[in-house]
Amino acid sequence: MATVDLVLPHHRYTIHIAPGLLADLGSMARKAAPHDRATLIIDDKITDTHGQAALASLKAASFDPLATTMTASEGHKNLATVQSLYHKLLDEHLERRSPVIALGGGIVGDTGGFVAASYLRGVPFIQCPTTLLAMVDASVGGKVGINMPQGKNLIGAFHQPVLVVIDTDTLNTLPKRDFICGLAECVKHGLIRDPELFDWIDQNINAILAQDSATLVELIERNVRIKAAVVMEDEKEAGVRAHLNFGHTFAHAIEAGTEYGRYLHGEAVSLGMVAAARLAAASGRCDSTVVDRLVALLKKTGLPTQANDLPTNDKLMSIMQSDKKVADGQVRLVLPDQLGKVSIVNDTPAHAIAAAWNTLR
Ligand SMILES: NC(=O)c1ccc[n+]([C@@H]2O[C@H](COP(=O)([O-])OP(=O)(O)OC[C@H]3O[C@@H](n4cnc5c(N)ncnc54)[C@H](O)[C@@H]3O)[C@@H](O)[C@H]2O)c1
Repeated sequence: MATVDLVLPHHRYTIHIAPGLLADLGSMARKAAPHDRATLIIDDKITDTHGQAALASLKAASFDPLATTMTASEGHKNLATVQSLYHKLLDEHLERRSPVIALGGGIVGDTGGFVAASYLRGVPFIQCPTTLLAMVDASVGGKVGINMPQGKNLIGAFHQPVLVVIDTDTLNTLPKRDFICGLAECVKHGLIRDPELFDWIDQNINAILAQDSATLVELIERNVRIKAAVVMEDEKEAGVRAHLNFGHTFAHAIEAGTEYGRYLHGEAVSLGMVAAARLAAASGRCDSTVVDRLVALLKKTGLPTQANDLPTNDKLMSIMQSDKKVADGQVRLVLPDQLGKVSIVNDTPAHAIAAAWNTLR
């Protein structure tokens, strides 16, 4: 088993990574959040598989769990779902010391985490991510929240988990397209901070795509180490944590501009990283080999690097302007200086952004 410790001034927790780990969820949860009751929120696509395994493990560790499900879609990551979960927890008299455990991808983790952050002013939270994206990114770092009709992730909190349990076997049931989406965040981690990881993904891409068990544990551990290091440096995103947004301002515009129906998040991030890297190369910030290497690796993973069906530049630019990461009316972009190093840039002219969009078409 691989473990990564995340240590903050006020809190610390361990991220455990291994195949078959759901069998130990109950015993690990007992140590991290000792109480007889627990709430298990399960992605309804995996209730009969990983949900049953998690529930059995909790019962074997003498928990009396309240098990409930939710549908993993951006449309369900909202206040209505949160309110119905509050009612269930209150009706069952769940107490302040009983943990909320989220078993699913980023949607269940973000929503369950927001319930944990706010129910009775905050209860212990345990993340059991079951998508690659949630394993390498969403389950680590304490950002939880929900969507509003006005936009994604606009309501939320920082609520660090007390434990993260990553059972890599749960990826066996994940659709290939969702698995590949998680690789976008892995490539991003390499590009923003760790050229060795970037090379390692390149060299091991066949074993990664074949979901070789040992390779997956190493992939996830390396990525969790990066995410945890960034969070330890800057928990509340006052500085370096914003580097994780590389490609994301472009990606959010693609997702919103296509009504969240055409591209999965990781696919939009892939296109967004290509646009951001091309913008950086065109403005002389980085060498064109950075773009070439990025595009080549994304292609090997099976992620898109070109899109002929994007909305107009006017539409994309207006969505970028309304992004919550806009500061004082300036679009805030994370751009590469070299492989493994990025900067935050606030003064990119609109024509340069439009030119970057055009390179994707
Ligand atoms: N909190 C953070 O720091 C953070 C970081 C990145 C992304 N996010 C959020 O994460 C969300 C996206 O997460 P995601 O990509 O995991 O998507 P998701 O939760 O929607 O899961 C993707 C799909 O896979 C299904 N699924 C999940 N696990 C499965 C399994 N093991 N087997 C079969 N099917 C499975 C889900 O039902 C869903 O259909 C977004 O809402 C995003 O805002 C949060």
